[in-house]
Amino acid sequence: YSYANTGKERTLAIIKPDGLLGNYTDKIKNVIVEAGFIIFKEITLQLDKDGVSSFYAEHSSKSFFHSLIKYMTSGPVLVMILEKENAIADWRALIGPTDARKAKITHPHSIRAMCGVDSERNCVHGSDSPQSAQREISFFFLEKSAGKERTLAIIKPDGLLGN
Ligand code: TYD
Ligand code: MG
Repeated sequence: YSYANTGKERTLAIIKPDGLLGNYTDKIKNVIVEAGFIIFKEITLQLDKDGVSSFYAEHSSKSFFHSLIKYMTSGPVLVMILEKENAIADWRALIGPTDARKAKITHPHSIRAMCGVDSERNCVHGSDSPQSAQREISFFFLEKSAGKERTLAIIKPDGLLGN
């Protein structure tokens, strides 16, 4: 759908597999909307190894990388573009620290405290800078998305009306 460019900031949010499987989607969306964000676009995806590896490329040399890829491909994720003034920093503040165990102590009202488990299974993602936000939004929402080519198909009126 079209949406006038309001000049507000956009960030990329992901509800990770644990969030979807644990039925936290509605709770998280409530927090998002109550905090004044608009969910500009959303898409539910099953990520594959290549897609997640390229999304998290900056972490490819880390010891946790392989395990992270396994987790992120373990079930569907919900990817959203969130829009509001100061969206990037405000969404990071709302999700809390990377390690959900720590979040439960230091940021008990954060989203990661609510539905995360540890520093890997932390329930949600948020872009960490304007550069990351632009890259990550393009990654999921441009025509060549998550490393996969897309095409456009339209079922025309006679196709729908003729069942
Ligand atoms: P990072 O960019 O450091 O955290 P954030 O998501 O808060 O920006 O790490 C990216 C993801 O990598 C993180 O959300 C979960 C995973 N990860 C681990 O599995 N183990 C770890 O020790 C760290 C630091 C991250
Ligand atoms: Mg990060």
